Amino acid sequence: MADILEVIKSRRNVTQFLPKFVSWENISRVLDAGRHAPSCGNIQNWKFIVVLKPEMKQEIAAASYDQYEIAAAFALIVVCAEPEKAERYYGEKGKTFYSVQNCAAAAQNMLLEAHALGLATRWVGAFDEAKVKELLKIPEEVEAHTIIALGYAKDVLAKPPKYPLETLVYFGAWRAKIADPAKYLNDIATILARKAHSTSEAIKKGQEYVVEKVKEVVGKKE
Ligand SMILES: Cc1cc2nc3c(=O)[nH]c(=O)nc-3n(C[C@H](O)[C@H](O)[C@H](O)COP(=O)(O)O)c2cc1C
Repeated sequence: MADILEVIKSRRNVTQFLPKFVSWENISRVLDAGRHAPSCGNIQNWKFIVVLKPEMKQEIAAASYDQYEIAAAFALIVVCAEPEKAERYYGEKGKTFYSVQNCAAAAQNMLLEAHALGLATRWVGAFDEAKVKELLKIPEEVEAHTIIALGYAKDVLAKPPKYPLETLVYFGAWRAKIADPAKYLNDIATILARKAHSTSEAIKKGQEYVVEKVKEVVGKKE
């Protein structure tokens, strides 16, 4: 199995898709990854609408402020939230905050599974929600959060720059930086193992030194 960090780092937001078939097995694996995302109190207040019909994909692309490239993707997955359910359990914060986070977690799981399967995705957040809801007959109380375009990539994309870790990480409090967070975050296990190894080497050398000294003293006496 591929290292999850490699999958995370090599995923790209793809803009252009090949007109290529994606098996239902793969689509369902992507949806299944969404289903396993964390959600507040495990309420799973999401629904995923799979759009395969070319005319509908075209309409959704138009409603996504003319991002017509997504119509070439084999499937569009519209991630919808049921905020009322989150509100019932967690009040206003559930409705406005947790519900969005739940759906974002589901969407990200889908992107990663798709990438692990060799598929490409494009996260589309810029769309006319009212229009998309009308097209897909989504009820008033349900929100359409994200459209995931799923297919095969036309091009391999260069990785966009990402901020280095030391500009993003504070320790213990806001703006509390340390000189080399990578040293601490990178691989604690390896750092400790190295320390343990050098300590045991030092002990071994000390033992050898003592044995040599004892031999010297004993030899002189004889
Ligand atoms: C909330 C959100 C909305 C986005 N909306 C769009 C969008 O409408 N169209 C698009 O092509 N990409 C969209 N993206 C994708 C970002 O542009 C992309 O993730 C970013 O440029 C970084 O590239 P990467 O994903 O390859 O690392 C969106 C991403 C997020 C998280």
